[in-house]
Amino acid sequence: MRTDTGQIVHLADYRPTDFVLERVDLTFELDPTATRVEARLIFHRREGVDAGLPLILDGDELALSELRLDQIDLKPEQFDVSPEQLTIRDLPESQPFEITVVTIINPEANTQLMGLYRTNGIYCTQCEAEGFRRITYFPDRPDVLAPYTITIVADKASNPLLLSNGNFLGGGNYDEGRHFAAWFDPFPKPSYLFALVAGDLGVVEDSFTTLSGRDVTLKILVEHGKEPRAAYAMDALKRSMKWDEERFGREYDLDIFMIVAVSDFNMGAMENKGLNVFNDKYVLADPETATDQDYANIEAIIAHEYFHNWTGNRITCRDWFQLCLKEGLTVYRDHEFSADMRSRAVKRIAEVRHLKAEQFPEDAGPLAHPVRPTTYREINNFYTTTVYEKGSEVTRMIATLLGRDLFKKGMDLYFERHDGDAATVEDFVKCFEEAGGRDLSQFSRWYHQAGTPMVTASSAYDTAEKTFTLSLEQTVPATPGQPVKEPMHIPLSFALILDNGSIAEPTAVTGGEITGEVLHLTERKQTFTFSGVASRPVLSLNRSFSAPINLDLSQPSADLAHIARHDSDLFARWQAITHLALPNLMQAARDVGEGKPIDCDPAFVEALLEAADDDNLEPAFRAQVLALPSEADIARELGGKNDPDAIHAARQAIIAIIAIIADKGAAVFQRLFDTLRIDGPFAPSAEDAGKRALRNSALSYLSYADGGIQRAADAFSAADNMTDMIQALTVLAHRFPGKSETANALGAFLKRFETNPLVLDKWFSIQATIPGPGALARVKALMEDPHFVATNPNRVRSLIGAFAFSNPTGFNRADGEGYRFLAKQILAIDPRNPQLAARILTSMRSWRSLEPVRADHARAALAEIERTSELSTDVRDIVERMLKA
Ligand code: TRP
Ligand code: ZN
Repeated sequence: MRTDTGQIVHLADYRPTDFVLERVDLTFELDPTATRVEARLIFHRREGVDAGLPLILDGDELALSELRLDQIDLKPEQFDVSPEQLTIRDLPESQPFEITVVTIINPEANTQLMGLYRTNGIYCTQCEAEGFRRITYFPDRPDVLAPYTITIVADKASNPLLLSNGNFLGGGNYDEGRHFAAWFDPFPKPSYLFALVAGDLGVVEDSFTTLSGRDVTLKILVEHGKEPRAAYAMDALKRSMKWDEERFGREYDLDIFMIVAVSDFNMGAMENKGLNVFNDKYVLADPETATDQDYANIEAIIAHEYFHNWTGNRITCRDWFQLCLKEGLTVYRDHEFSADMRSRAVKRIAEVRHLKAEQFPEDAGPLAHPVRPTTYREINNFYTTTVYEKGSEVTRMIATLLGRDLFKKGMDLYFERHDGDAATVEDFVKCFEEAGGRDLSQFSRWYHQAGTPMVTASSAYDTAEKTFTLSLEQTVPATPGQPVKEPMHIPLSFALILDNGSIAEPTAVTGGEITGEVLHLTERKQTFTFSGVASRPVLSLNRSFSAPINLDLSQPSADLAHIARHDSDLFARWQAITHLALPNLMQAARDVGEGKPIDCDPAFVEALLEAADDDNLEPAFRAQVLALPSEADIARELGGKNDPDAIHAARQAIIAIIAIIADKGAAVFQRLFDTLRIDGPFAPSAEDAGKRALRNSALSYLSYADGGIQRAADAFSAADNMTDMIQALTVLAHRFPGKSETANALGAFLKRFETNPLVLDKWFSIQATIPGPGALARVKALMEDPHFVATNPNRVRSLIGAFAFSNPTGFNRADGEGYRFLAKQILAIDPRNPQLAARILTSMRSWRSLEPVRADHARAALAEIERTSELSTDVRDIVERMLKA
């Protein structure tokens, strides 16, 4: 582990390298504990650079074995070396020169899964962001681009496959049972996109013919025996390739595209040029073991990594501050892909739910940072929901501001102008300013100002004048390092809905710019006046969630019910039902707290059941409507101090309200449960998934009636796919913990899937998220279970991560035991895998808004971590930011 060096990187300090890297030639002689890496690097001094300046290369835990300049060994006085740096002096003034660096590395000992490591007997690499420097000394930064030639030598019997980026050059047998393969990647790339995979894997092969008629070989590599489970991923890949051609005119550029699935991986997947490496969770699926959500995730992540080939690889980032340039944009692209493959409205609802549950809390706590930060201490800690998801929302807003055609024009310009570049956010925005003929300087504050803007809205209708006025006020909260904010350019999609459901078409508008259905809020305070509105309209605002803001607009429940029935934007209909639900749930939470009986506004229950029962609406949408705001959503809305006892009350309130809905809607739910059964073979289609979601939703309401536990137990036994099985098991475990039916189901599930790690992860997660203070003891016991594997990131996330992130009532015990437990786990994980430890620690990112007693416990647990001397940079950075702000 590299302990913290405390160095902070500033965007303002950016300057290009002194030396230009022309070519990279790497030879790997693979060995589990002593792999020899020979790097031949051709450099020339950049024009105008002082002749005396040395070449400085990055390293991380490296040991130098040989070092040559133009094939001649360097004398000790010509260089300085440490595990973190190699400095070479006395270099030729103008001619290109060749540096040969030989390092010996130990893949088997690499537990942090950065650089070259071993997983289940195969060799694999992860180089983003700064993993390449764990392989050889190198100018390891994204603005150093070169073509790579790779030669891999390894024992043939144990490593029949030798893979790297680019096109296959050739291979053959070598001495002592070894063989070799050579690869050439002609597209200049930064080191973070390098990949090597070697071992014995099963191959699923297919092909794709591009727009211009080139044949591309497609391969997905998985553990032997798992080949059938890669079929869906292959299908998703081909659809992604086609979609990027049709939607963005982007064609694939090499002869081959490969995806390797590995079971030990820190993140979801990695877009290495021509050789993506995936967490196998996002590749492997079959009906028996994968849920509909798993299928949707696979489709999205396969697309995401594939789309990086253009947004990330062909055009990369100048420096890591520009991370959102590739990540925000690529998330936007994968969101659009999924919207086209599935239901756009349902996809949007899921995106917004995720954004509010993950990004809004990050933006409201001590880890808040701009989409384009200006400083960092550990770049691994900036692969955040703000960079990814808020970054995507910012891209979406550019598309909203420009409209579909001009946005496309801007993207075309970006690809044309910056292909082969290491670009910046400013370069990107400029393309849209030019293509759209619009000044985006105020808009760009979305990249630079952290915090979720709050927009307060109020409206009035003047019957005599036939005018409708809308007053808006925006504030952007203070965030760490940014006490004062400037007003943002906020695009708000809106509609004025009339009594009959039609949309008003005002004769004139004053007070600000409106383009199409979008109102531009650019001032701190702004009042729009619409004339020629014949009768009092109902305002539907921030439709499709056109801006990632908090909206404070109180509307009568009759208005919300009107939107829920009539808005042509399905997202807005869902949003209205959510806004109808929230005050009821919050009132119920308060009533529970005071021991009063629970009641519920009939207008809300009616609107909800009406949507659920409406067969003209797609089932997936109706399932989203039935999924009420979670206890965490309510806790956020309760505002002020986050009191987990209030969360507990909120949970009781949700249960009470669901029981009321379940009772009133018993006939509806019974009908849905009976009629939505799908006959015929399982298909992971969006349509069937929607039916399953709605039917399972009906089941969970039905489980509130008498005999609910038996219904759930029956559904569990009857399930013939993982979606239905997990749903029934979750109802049993979360609603009826400790009952024999639940224990039996958990036992049967374990027995059946004992040898399937991805399914076992689900078994751990379901139990880790059983609400209530008993959760901690359960989690501790599960850590002792022989199936718990502390070295596998997926398993650690499925137990410890699920507990800390997704069990608000269990984790936030009043006695602080949850926090102390987490601190202990972080300290245990950190020496082995700092990235994983730091990520799980961010589960405490909202600790400051806890009520005082818990906040004290949380602070003490964090301070305990901070006091530890041997912390990784990753964990130290997170813990210090959390304690400082
Ligand atoms: N670039 C990857 C993506 O598609 C993210 C990623 C994968 C990553 N593995 C990583 C980032 C390891 C940091 C470290 O989003
Ligand atoms: Zn990405």
